[in-house]
Amino acid sequence: MDTRERVHIFDTTLRDGEQAPGCSMHLDEKLRLARKLERLGVDVIEAGFPIASDGDFDAVAAVAHECRSVTVAALCRTSEGDIVRAAEALEGAAHPRIHTFIATSDIHLEFKLGKTRPEVLDAARRAVRIARRYVDEVEFSAEDATRSDVGFLCDVFDAVAEEGATILNVPDTVGYTTPGEYGELIRTVIDRVVAGRPIQVSAHCHNDLGLAVANSLAAASAGARQIECTINGIGERAGNAALEEIVAAMQVRRDRLPFATGIDATQLYAASCLVAEVVGFGVQPNKAIVGRNAFAHEAGIHQHGVLKNPLCYEILTPESVGVPSNAIVLGKHSGRHALALRYAELGYTVASTDLDRIYHRFTALADRKKRIFDQDLISLIAADRDGSSRALVGIRA
Ligand code: KIV
Ligand code: ZN
Repeated sequence: MDTRERVHIFDTTLRDGEQAPGCSMHLDEKLRLARKLERLGVDVIEAGFPIASDGDFDAVAAVAHECRSVTVAALCRTSEGDIVRAAEALEGAAHPRIHTFIATSDIHLEFKLGKTRPEVLDAARRAVRIARRYVDEVEFSAEDATRSDVGFLCDVFDAVAEEGATILNVPDTVGYTTPGEYGELIRTVIDRVVAGRPIQVSAHCHNDLGLAVANSLAAASAGARQIECTINGIGERAGNAALEEIVAAMQVRRDRLPFATGIDATQLYAASCLVAEVVGFGVQPNKAIVGRNAFAHEAGIHQHGVLKNPLCYEILTPESVGVPSNAIVLGKHSGRHALALRYAELGYTVASTDLDRIYHRFTALADRKKRIFDQDLISLIAADRDGSSRALVGIRA
């Protein structure tokens, strides 16, 4: 019997991820990604910030219409106009969630909002009250929570919980906290605010100090039951916590992280490839789990050990996260069949009518490069789709 506690995965690739420089997505791209995320098994897809643009509104509406087995969240500030726009975008969603936020740190209050603490508390309370007129599920985020006064933070959380917010998110907006400190904060919120009520505490970590995943896992260990993250860790500045790293850590270190998610880990690599294709850049080669070197062994002593027993140097198998075993190395002598097979492994179905064209691009590239990597293949698909000769940034022979 699986006795692990369930942690909900809230994917914000389409919202916080899209806020990263150069990551804006069109509606059809957001829809393709949303379908992939639903198949991956995320619990919540945050599809956009409807008041921000008509494009975002349409994307949230389209995802809400199409993705019926997940919760679809729309972000809004605390003003009534924002909330109504989010509610309109979510109309018809099978499982809608309004996600409203306001900053609680003194630095944001003074320099960004120009509001006092009582004014922020009122705005938060009123926003949740309004949002609850439209949907049953309301999430409240205290922006910059990790630099906020803990007493005030808990007062705001308590007020919004009274108004019916059932998910309280504790964002480390500027990626400032550390695992020990964040775990303590989560525990404090659970003790002082949740106090037995049916409220889920949520972690949302940015990666400015490279600690987003560690902080998210510390939050889960402290009792957070929702983690907000993005595929490939894309997001503002240094990005958000990477979904694939969180899931893999829980899988490999079940002894220390006894949490279950709904994620089908074998879909992680395909999801990473799709995000790379859509945003036009891949992850760095040494990126954990999905980087092209994540399972590559160069040093002779390592190769020897891995050949005898992969567990010598591999703590998880490439297959367990959907990385194809690179038994077939693609190069200029490879044929159409091998190419189509690799695309299928990466989660792409290439119509035979497109294969000729893509194969032509492939052989031209193979003439110039010694090795063709999966991300090159994704770039070829993207280039074929928009008829350009663009290549992914950062992929070298
Ligand atoms: O980082 C942040 O504070 C956010 C909130 C809007 C949740 O993205
Ligand atoms: Zn964020």
